Amino acid sequence: MEERIELPEAEGAERKIVGFFCRECAYAAADATGNARVSLPPTIRSVLVPCTGRVSPLHLLKALADGADGVYIAGCLVGQCHYREGNLYALDRIEFARALLESVGVEPERVRMFTMSAADSPKFVEAARKMHETISNLPPLQRK
Ligand code: FES
Repeated sequence: MEERIELPEAEGAERKIVGFFCRECAYAAADATGNARVSLPPTIRSVLVPCTGRVSPLHLLKALADGADGVYIAGCLVGQCHYREGNLYALDRIEFARALLESVGVEPERVRMFTMSAADSPKFVEAARKMHETISNLPPLQRK
């Protein structure tokens, strides 16, 4: 049986963006962002994953199919993945998912990857804001 992911509504958010964050660098940057009381756009819903290498193209496409207008992955800098090569796999999967989307007429920029160090809270915020801006400038994702 196929399970549908329910994406919660957020006040002031017309669009939904799912961010998959690795629990090492990206989550540390997210934590620092929260401690500094910097708010993220209301469109962002976060999913914590052990490593970006754990995110498959199916996770990305399923999030889009279940209501997200955009999906992104945030992880460690290239060469600094705590599982050695997870973020390299994630980069390949992002490219694969983008190519799949483009082949069916969906804007590939709906899916992106960002990398950052654990101390780089500004880059974490910038990634969320960039995704918010990109998705806000696109029409809602049509699913039929
Ligand atoms: Fe962060 Fe692998 S642990 S990308």
